[in-house]
This record gives sequence, structure tokens and C-alpha cells, in this order.
Amino acid sequence: MYEMIKLKYDYKDLEPYYDSDMFNYHYNVLYKAYTDNLNKIMDEFNNNRKNSNFDNIQNLSKRLAFTANAYILHSLFFENLTPMPNKTLLSKEIVNHIKKDFGSYDAFIDELNSSLLNVEGPGWVVFGYDRYLDKLLIIQIEKHQDLTLIDFIPLLVIDMWEHSYYLQYNTNKKEYIRNLFYILDFNVVNNRYNNIYMI
Ligand SMILES: [Fe+2]
Repeated sequence: MYEMIKLKYDYKDLEPYYDSDMFNYHYNVLYKAYTDNLNKIMDEFNNNRKNSNFDNIQNLSKRLAFTANAYILHSLFFENLTPMPNKTLLSKEIVNHIKKDFGSYDAFIDELNSSLLNVEGPGWVVFGYDRYLDKLLIIQIEKHQDLTLIDFIPLLVIDMWEHSYYLQYNTNKKEYIRNLFYILDFNVVNNRYNNIYMI
């Protein structure tokens, strides 16, 4: 049974950077629906196994990719937010690794901004580490499941679906991105980075 992650902050404290009504809808309606649907999908897998009937396996497999990734990405996104005053910074280790893999820290920030502004359709931008490729990368995920990498460990997850900003920012993605940076929790990113080497 999968559950919604518990928030370590009161989401009203994310204002004015993230509107609390928008957050409430995002977390309590959309994220809840993804979590409930993921549990239903798991039940369907179990029923198929009990009944030895896999007629719906192709449809179920597609729904699993969409819904499980929606659940995971939202959990990681809500986890890497924090209210102001936000004193968190990327660690020296991760900054050095960024410089090695992106050429410079400025190049990393430029690539991150471009990726955020240019996701096609509903999607996500995720900064992470691909274990198989041994490389830090920024990827654009379309919907919740397209264009992902197979051995990619997310470190920083940003929701670029319209439901994540439209109510407060309308079509002004630039302002959403600028304000979101004030409430990103880089301690969480550092901890995820440190855990790469323990997996
Ligand atoms: Fe979302």
C-alpha cells in the first residue's frame, strides 16, 4: 500500500512563492489521485496473478509507467521544497561534480533554466545521476514517463506541468521558475547525492 509522503512543512509557509490554494489542489487532489490509482493498479496486477488472466497486461503496463512515475516524481518534488528563509546550499562535493560533468557551474544553471523553459507539453525537469553512464545529467521528462533514462537517480525534481504553476503564474513560466528557486531544499539534494554511493 503506497501512501502520500508527509510534508515536513506547512504549505502555507511556501507563500508567496507557491500559492497555498494551488499547492492544496496539487497535493490533496492530484497527488492523492495518483497515489490511489497506483494502489488500484497494484491490486489489478495481484488479481491477474490470482486468476491467471493477463488479457489487460499491455494496458496495465502503460498505466503503471504513467501512474507510478507520477507518484514518485510528485513525492520527490514535494520533498525537495522548503519554506523561506531557505539557507540550504549545494554541498562542495556536488558542486565539484557538477563542474566536472557540465564544464562549469554557470553552464549547469544555464542548462537547467533552458530545460525548464523548454519542456514539450506537460512534463518534468530532473537533475540526477545516471549510474550506468556514470554522469550527472539534466533530463526533460514528457508526461510522467517519456524520455526517462533506465538507471537514472533523481536528485532535484521540478514539476513543469501547467497544474503546478498556472493558477498563480498563468503562462509566466520564467517567474514560476525564478520563485521556485527560493523554496528548493538543497539539503535534500545533497542527501540524495550522498546516498548514491550507498545504493
Ligand atoms: Fe504535478
